[in-house]
Amino acid sequence: MTETVSFPQDRTCPYHPPVNYRPLREAGPLAHVTFYDGRDVWAVTGHTEARALLTDPRLSSDRQNPSFPAPAERFRTAARRFRTPLIGTDDPEHNAQRRMLIPSFSLRRTAVLRPRIQRVVDELLDGMLAQGPPAELVSAFALPVPSMVICSLLGVPYADHEFFEERSHRMLRGRTAKEIQQARIDLEDYLSDLVARKERDPGDGLLDELIEERLLTGAVERVELVRLTMVLLVAGHETTANMISLGAFTLLQHPEQLDRLRSDEDLMPSAVEELLRFLSIADGMLRVATEDIEIAGQTIRTGDGVVFATSVINRDATAYPSPDELDVGRSARHHIAFGFGIHQCLGQNLARAEMEIALRSLFTRIPDLRLAAPAADIPFKPGDTLQGMLELPLAW
Ligand code: HEM
Repeated sequence: MTETVSFPQDRTCPYHPPVNYRPLREAGPLAHVTFYDGRDVWAVTGHTEARALLTDPRLSSDRQNPSFPAPAERFRTAARRFRTPLIGTDDPEHNAQRRMLIPSFSLRRTAVLRPRIQRVVDELLDGMLAQGPPAELVSAFALPVPSMVICSLLGVPYADHEFFEERSHRMLRGRTAKEIQQARIDLEDYLSDLVARKERDPGDGLLDELIEERLLTGAVERVELVRLTMVLLVAGHETTANMISLGAFTLLQHPEQLDRLRSDEDLMPSAVEELLRFLSIADGMLRVATEDIEIAGQTIRTGDGVVFATSVINRDATAYPSPDELDVGRSARHHIAFGFGIHQCLGQNLARAEMEIALRSLFTRIPDLRLAAPAADIPFKPGDTLQGMLELPLAW
């Protein structure tokens, strides 16, 4: 048994795993961590074991299971009151929900969106250049890019972005369970009204398609459609926004890698994979065991909590040579930054396209981009939510 480590912890540097996770890296591939409530939870740190366990149906994502581990009290209480489609649901129910959406997030459908993404990125950069310097990248660019793209894909009016961004933010970072719950209710009410409006006056987004093909045919219940849309809306902008801002910060802190990228634009797709691996912004996917599981000479018992320490798994030296080095030319594609198995990120093709276009355009159009404050003074997110920058002041 290893020295226990509390989980989650805040990062000291926004792009490295918390320094106190070091014993986990040394103990791997399976270690113990202690959650805020004193509970002992399995921490998966090995790359091979993570992929085996993420495809194991004996691990459940159902947050309403009383044994499901929570990284903070506010998430535990909030999760009990609300069943999250897709990400918090097991098969076969999960599979039925996912099948309904897969065609809309395929590589081909995402490729068609690229010109639209490029337009959004260009317009935002035009605005930023016209106003600045300096600029605050999160609010001026990193958040609006994915927010506008997911709105356009779903058919949600971007004019309402302040409302849903603020609610999404509170669902992840709200201080109390009540605040998280209220944010969910507000979003659900908003999307319920939107579905009703679209039934009367259809548009051309994915939500309109789902209303016509699934809701009006009785294939999906109204409340399920509303909640699925909520998951897509929230997952579709917070995550990618964090990757764009933290990705830009990390590249600015690694000028030699940024130079490589500038001199060879073809490296951008592999740079995006490497940033996903290196930054591991969803640092702690959770599961509960519904049966005993033997793995790596240990037994995970029924009811045990399991956390996938993504930032550690993605730096497993057996999977990646010199794992703590950012290398935009390496082949990092088998990382688990998008998860793995049945819940592997539905929006990954879209997220990749957004990151590629956003980062390429940002650094091409503003070649002398630099931080407008000392790196150590720029605030980033705490450990129990998605990792990312809270602000990113830039100059040129
Ligand atoms: C770079 C940005 C993103 C990252 C790092 C990311 C990460 C993840 C991860 C780690 C999971 C798996 C969670 C688990 O297994 O418990 C996931 C699932 C999911 N993501 Fe993403 N995501 C990103 C962007 C997006 C986008 C743009 C969408 C668009 C709609 C999206 C929609 C989803 C959905 C719906 C699921 C649940 C899938 C399922 O349970 O079947 N994500 N994401």
